Amino acid sequence: MKKFLLYLFLGLLLFGLPFMAYTSEEYVGDRKCKVCHIKIHKSWRETPHAKAFEALNPGVKAEAKKKAGLDDQKDYTTDASCIQCHTTGNSPLFPGIQCEACHAPGKKYTSAKIMNKKKYKANPEQQRKLALEAGLIIAPDEKNCTECHNEKSPTYQPFDFKARYEEVKHTKAAK
Ligand code: HEC
Ligand code: HEC
Ligand code: HEC
Ligand code: HEC
Repeated sequence: MKKFLLYLFLGLLLFGLPFMAYTSEEYVGDRKCKVCHIKIHKSWRETPHAKAFEALNPGVKAEAKKKAGLDDQKDYTTDASCIQCHTTGNSPLFPGIQCEACHAPGKKYTSAKIMNKKKYKANPEQQRKLALEAGLIIAPDEKNCTECHNEKSPTYQPFDFKARYEEVKHTKAAK
């Protein structure tokens, strides 16, 4: 963990503030969403998406790595070529495929004026309109998924959008 933080720090130094500004400006991280979407968050935590960063640790998913010609004992958590598809916003600050990888960066649409229980209850159409204007994506399209689900993945599985979509829309989360 220490080593990881050191690399992260060096990475930030190397790539400079624009990278940091971009991630901290646009993304808020899954914990912010959890505050109001507790059940969805809980069910998401159990999905491979939530655990996608952990898969980069040595020894984890060893069989799948060997099969794909990867080194199962190597630490891939600092490998930029893996990070781009195993984090949100291409940043280990947001490990795994979080809410914002599908619903777009949340800094603006999670403002108290927009995602607000009282206001949403009183006028859902109005609040939805504001959220969409602030960048919220409710239903991600196929292009969103195939940014990661493509042949550049060392463990690539043919991707059936319609079938896979059904698996990620939180139907198991009792609201
Ligand atoms: C302060 C509370 C709060 C926070 C924080 C919050 N939400 Fe929401 N969100 C709501 C409320 C209230 C609604 C209205 C529907 C409902 O009750 O689920 C909503 C609706 C949504 C919808 C559906 C929009 C619609 O009109 O159908 C999506 C998608 C969503 N939120 C995603 C997120 C994501 C992703 C995050 C974190 C980046 C987030 N929310 C953070 C309160 C919040
Ligand atoms: C892999 C993509 C993906 C991820 C990751 C994801 N969602 Fe969703 N989400 C969807 C899809 C797909 C739908 C269904 C949209 C539709 O077709 O109406 C949805 C719907 C929603 C809705 C509105 C419908 C409902 O069930 O209330 C909310 C709120 C929401 N997501 C919040 C979240 C939160 C919070 C997280 C993180 C804990 C998250 N989502 C992570 C894809 C995703
Ligand atoms: C930022 C990259 C990224 C995006 C965007 C993304 N995924 Fe994924 N997805 C992954 C990774 C990485 C895994 C594998 C996680 C693991 O097993 O460690 C995965 C796994 C999955 C799985 C589980 C596969 C299994 O093991 O059964 C499903 C289903 C899935 N994705 C559907 C989707 C859908 C649908 C979308 C678009 C709405 C989407 N994903 C968007 C990176 C992404
Ligand atoms: C282009 C995006 C992309 C890149 C780059 C990428 N992955 Fe993945 N990874 C995925 C997706 C998507 C999945 C889900 C399975 C699939 O379709 O490949 C996945 C799944 C995995 C799994 C789980 C496989 C299983 O069967 O459970 C491991 C382990 C993994 N990736 C490791 C890595 C490592 C290590 C790297 C860097 C050398 C890497 N990935 C680079 C997108 C990517």
